Amino acid sequence: MLHGKSVLLIISGGIAAYKSLELIRLLRKNGLTVRCILTDGGAKFITPLSVAALTENKVFTDLFSLTDEAEMGHISLSRETDLLLVAPASANILAKMAQGLANDLASTVLLATDKPVMIAPAMNVRMWQHEATQNNISILSQRGVLIVGPDEGDMACGEYGPGRLADTEEILRNVKIYFGKKSPLADCTALVTSGPTHEPIDPVRYIANRSSGRQGHAIAAALANKGAKTTLISGPTSLPDPAGVKVIKIETAQQMLTACQKALPADVMVCAAAVADFRMATNSNKKIKKSNGKIPVLEITENPDVLATISKTKKTRPKLLIGFAAETHDIIPNAQLKLKDKKCDWLLANDVSEESGTFGGDNNTIHLVTADSVENWPQMTKNDVAKRLAERIASALIK
Ligand code: CTP
Repeated sequence: MLHGKSVLLIISGGIAAYKSLELIRLLRKNGLTVRCILTDGGAKFITPLSVAALTENKVFTDLFSLTDEAEMGHISLSRETDLLLVAPASANILAKMAQGLANDLASTVLLATDKPVMIAPAMNVRMWQHEATQNNISILSQRGVLIVGPDEGDMACGEYGPGRLADTEEILRNVKIYFGKKSPLADCTALVTSGPTHEPIDPVRYIANRSSGRQGHAIAAALANKGAKTTLISGPTSLPDPAGVKVIKIETAQQMLTACQKALPADVMVCAAAVADFRMATNSNKKIKKSNGKIPVLEITENPDVLATISKTKKTRPKLLIGFAAETHDIIPNAQLKLKDKKCDWLLANDVSEESGTFGGDNNTIHLVTADSVENWPQMTKNDVAKRLAERIASALIK
């Protein structure tokens, strides 16, 4: 199961670092290729030479090493591996990961990676139980970092309690579970629309809305995270591209429709974009000028409805078609009408009134409307909405 897979093992400072030598031996015995980064702290407990001898690979230690960067830059190091394993993970490296610090090779690689990360914490019991460490652990866990241990027992410092590095066999067992588990959406393709559209008035002005794209981008990331081959068609936003997602950037509603039609077929499509309903009736390729107090009349026309158009096209209609309903009042009845009108399978209705703070904000309160049910979700972050939706999609598609 593990042959052909590779692990980047990050050994941070702590007395448990000596156990990572045994861990390297076990990982290799099970067919994994192991590369190591040894932090300055780690190198106080074990030597690069013993790590190199056991891995039969070069050991990386220095962020600013010219030779290392020439051989394999720190960005490639973070990406050309199947799993990053931090064992032992000291309180210090956990804090750096939680805060996104990048002041040495290990923390830089952990920030630059788009690969899954597993940690096996090891530290003194009081350090482990400190609120700061516990907060860092919950941040990392919410971010999807896999956590093994720590164990409870006698510690090298003479105290007793949780904080001991998990058994190396237990770490190996978790690595095996990780590689053995097939992502639930591994055989599925997903298409997501996100962000606002910009409809030009003239070469310098446009009609737009307040959508940040956060919800749509989070959904694309969550689907990709579950293994779906995901394409994101995004209007103009200031967000970074989600890792592992093919991103196509467009400006107008018409461009969004064309890009979606090109990207189909897909097993599931989520239309989270706040597409502008209207555009200018005629294109002005010259800036509209003020002329002696005469106010220009802007004639607008209706844009195509991306979701409704795709739901009507039988040949390429995704198996599961999901829309959003951005409402400021009568949320559920309006959403039920939209579900019927647009002939989609699910509609995620949300309150976008000014008081709700949904547009541009971090949170969202969703009502999942289907032809025969309404499910009310509690207020959640947009990331949690995305994860919950991805779970629901996975169980609907893999029946
Ligand atoms: N939508 C779309 N193309 C449009 C307008 C909307 O694909 N031109 C999609 C949105 O992505 C969303 C759903 O339709 O999934 C509902 O969008 P919403 O803005 O809530 O509703 P509208 O259809 O624009 O209706 P209204 O503005 O009257 O509420």
